[in-house]
Amino acid sequence: MTQSPGQGKALDNLLTESRTFPPSDEFAAQANAKPELYEEAKADREAFWAKQAERLHWDTKWDQVLDWSDAPFAKWFVGGKLNVAYNCVDRHVESGHGDQVAIHWEGEPGDSRAITYAELQREVSKAANALTSLGIGAEDRVAIYMPMVPEAIFAMLACARVGAMHSVVFGGFSAEALRTRIEDSSCRLVITTDGQYRRGNPAPLKPAVDEAVAGAPSVEKVIVVKRTDTEVAWTDKDVWWHELVDSQSDQHTPEAFDSEHPLFILYTSGTTGKPKGILHTSGGYLTQTSYTHHHVFDLKPDTDVYWCTADIGWVTGHSYIVYGPLSNRVTQVVYEGTPNTPHEGRHWEIIQKYGVSIYYTAPTLIRTFMKWGADIPAKYDLSSLRVLGSVGEPINPEAWIWYRENIGGGKAPIVDTWWQTETGAIMISPLPGVVATKPGSAQRPLPGIGAKVVNDEGVEVEHGGGGYLVLDEPWPSMLRGIWGDEERYKDTYWSRFADQGYYFAGDGAKYDSDGDLWLLGRVDDVMNVSGHRISTTEVESALVSHPTVAEAAVVGASDATTGQGIVAFVILRGGAGDDAGGAEAIKALRDHVAKEIGPIAKPRQIMVVPELPKTRSGKIMRRLLRDVAENRAVGDVTTLADSSVMDLISAGLQSGKSED
Ligand code: PRX
Repeated sequence: MTQSPGQGKALDNLLTESRTFPPSDEFAAQANAKPELYEEAKADREAFWAKQAERLHWDTKWDQVLDWSDAPFAKWFVGGKLNVAYNCVDRHVESGHGDQVAIHWEGEPGDSRAITYAELQREVSKAANALTSLGIGAEDRVAIYMPMVPEAIFAMLACARVGAMHSVVFGGFSAEALRTRIEDSSCRLVITTDGQYRRGNPAPLKPAVDEAVAGAPSVEKVIVVKRTDTEVAWTDKDVWWHELVDSQSDQHTPEAFDSEHPLFILYTSGTTGKPKGILHTSGGYLTQTSYTHHHVFDLKPDTDVYWCTADIGWVTGHSYIVYGPLSNRVTQVVYEGTPNTPHEGRHWEIIQKYGVSIYYTAPTLIRTFMKWGADIPAKYDLSSLRVLGSVGEPINPEAWIWYRENIGGGKAPIVDTWWQTETGAIMISPLPGVVATKPGSAQRPLPGIGAKVVNDEGVEVEHGGGGYLVLDEPWPSMLRGIWGDEERYKDTYWSRFADQGYYFAGDGAKYDSDGDLWLLGRVDDVMNVSGHRISTTEVESALVSHPTVAEAAVVGASDATTGQGIVAFVILRGGAGDDAGGAEAIKALRDHVAKEIGPIAKPRQIMVVPELPKTRSGKIMRRLLRDVAENRAVGDVTTLADSSVMDLISAGLQSGKSED
């Protein structure tokens, strides 16, 4: 094969974006974040983080900001002591805000609850007393397997209050997934509900717990919250929440724990093998979640109504529903259900009802809203919105613009926040009011964070160049390890650039000519076409920027001539009509990609499909699409949110193959 120009580069930089949106003077003037923050952090990073830690109440002050002598095992705020739950609840009551609503909870069937900080304090205290009554204390592991009900948040905070570690397992996971997670960290207690609402109907949840617990001998008790009032089988380990918790005293004195006391484990999947139990600790984690939530979302605790649409089963729910927001005395909306129950305007109806001013969601949902049509949000009053956020995957510039125009009224700044379960808190994001935002770019590391894009040798690439995203400085909310597996922790994150001592995030990234950072997806989603490494994300963004395309997923399929060929799966927009799937339209799409990125990125094949295979957290399962693209039997579909999707795709394929 001849040497092509892209060879040897970590990732080619092909797509360009020139639109920018500076903050209004009005926004900048009132913003929590000021430009000096960058300078301050640069001048003395540790002093900067020490100042951020002052946001919290410490029972004992630390005597060392960072101990990195045992790298990659960090210690932050060494010697400090605090109680995380006290910081998220009690201190707000003590400062006179007991009557402020902490949580506007909206149930899927339309029931709702407003929970003040005073009430939250009583609920968390009762739950903490209940844990103590069961003998659960410091460093015990508690599995929480629940839908988005207030008790899930009470349970997390109660664990934090008594120093127990929670391991929240997403309520959409199977009994077997729950069992392996319970087993890996030997949980002594499980907290769950009888059932959960899913798309308008009660669905059972406890049977999965029964099955998991039957195979997990470490579990001594199961606390069950009554949510759907469905009949459930009962074992001698089970106890009702309303019987155990509601009979406890609502007074509880929190104990201060070491800054490095473990706070939680959260399982995340790797490329291979069993899920990794990501371990987070207390002082550093709370410092960075609090700091980022305050500056990135510009939260004003007296006037804002904040809404993060994540589930507490994911890290976003931990850091940006529970710990960051509550430590900042937020008033927030927590919604139990799906976005189209009972209708596709549910989110906009909730925003209108509560006057939500800050809305944080995921690109996959934004693209779904695009597919449903802009006329739906247009029916609601969204004028309260003043900051929008995005997280979880690269946001395509077109989705970004749609979000800005149709949800943000053409003016709310959008913060595209890059981070991971492992990083614990936001690492890369524009600061609203300081940075002129750019559609599709996460832009720059936050003050205090060190991140860069490097090539295969670990050398930083130039502006305009692509490569691997690394974090080159320890940060307060960094994972402290993988539960029970030190070696896997070192191998997974610290071995790729061991000489430089960089944490490798597993993501491809590039700098544009202004030096702004663009995330290009996981490096295992990178295709290699004729020696050019091309990100699936860039081709997807190009496809989605075409007016007929609602959603696109791209995979590299093996190709005798070029190594890999690009195969695209596209969902057409509602109004695009059937003939849009014809040969003409497919040619138009291929030409469009060639125009947007260059001929090298022209998909070899485009298939029009009715749905894309996604995990329950909304990530596209490219592995399954690769099977289709390479004409293989489709592999394991058990982690798909909807396992019938692959049948739909295979049945309804209209494919267009290129001749040129
Ligand atoms: O690939 C990046 C992508 O999501 C990965 C982390 O996934 P998870 O641990 O599940 O956490 C998701 C919520 C923080 C990253 O390695 N990712 C997350 N946010 C972005 C993103 N990719 C691009 N842009 C983002 N804003």
